[in-house]
Amino acid sequence: MDQPAWWASGSFWRKAAIWVTGVSLVVLVFLTMDSLGKISVGSKRVPAFTAINHRIDYVFNDDRRVQQPRIGPQEPLFGQALTAERAEALVRHGKLTIQANNCMECHTLLGNGAYFAPDLTKAWLDPYWGAPDVREKLMVDFLLDPSEKLHNGLGRRMPNLHLTLDEAKAVVAFLKWMSAIDTNGFPYNFTTMKQEN
Ligand code: HEC
Repeated sequence: MDQPAWWASGSFWRKAAIWVTGVSLVVLVFLTMDSLGKISVGSKRVPAFTAINHRIDYVFNDDRRVQQPRIGPQEPLFGQALTAERAEALVRHGKLTIQANNCMECHTLLGNGAYFAPDLTKAWLDPYWGAPDVREKLMVDFLLDPSEKLHNGLGRRMPNLHLTLDEAKAVVAFLKWMSAIDTNGFPYNFTTMKQEN
């Protein structure tokens, strides 16, 4: 019987399968490590939790053609600068509160979630809060009782989720920290609150 052509032999396809799987695995591991470096806290695009001790601003980057966050001078949340550990604990508490109350059932965070209510990625910079000096109080008040404080043109109201004062403050810390993440310009075309330069 004649030998089959090289491309028709079983051993060729077995070797090809092993090579393709092996190379894909290496590429996958490389991409995973690369992504982990980019999304870990304290890296270039995802700031350390102590960002909540600073003013968060946005500047337009002409090269990238996107709005890019800028961590400004000291402007501690609730007037109290926190150590790295305490800032992390507060932001984590906010994140857990958001998960426990399933805010993503209505909102998106960094684009993930539902589309009933506004994306919260830049909620900290929403001009609706008026001015930087009243924002923290207004945000906490809103979270404690949002049902009567309509501020969107859609007529949709947020229900009262009965957060405690500590939970509401932690959520504000999480939202402030999240607004400092460089999201490549997402959400597109958002306007930010006017702040001094
Ligand atoms: C049942 C749907 C629903 C759930 C659940 C919900 N929200 Fe809302 N939220 C809304 C709606 C609707 C608005 C817009 C209300 C308005 O403008 O008055 C809103 C507005 C907000 C705003 C103001 C956004 C901005 O850009 O100014 C914040 C902050 C917020 N929600 C945080 C939360 C957090 C934190 C949770 C979870 C603890 C949560 N929401 C859960 C419906 C919801």
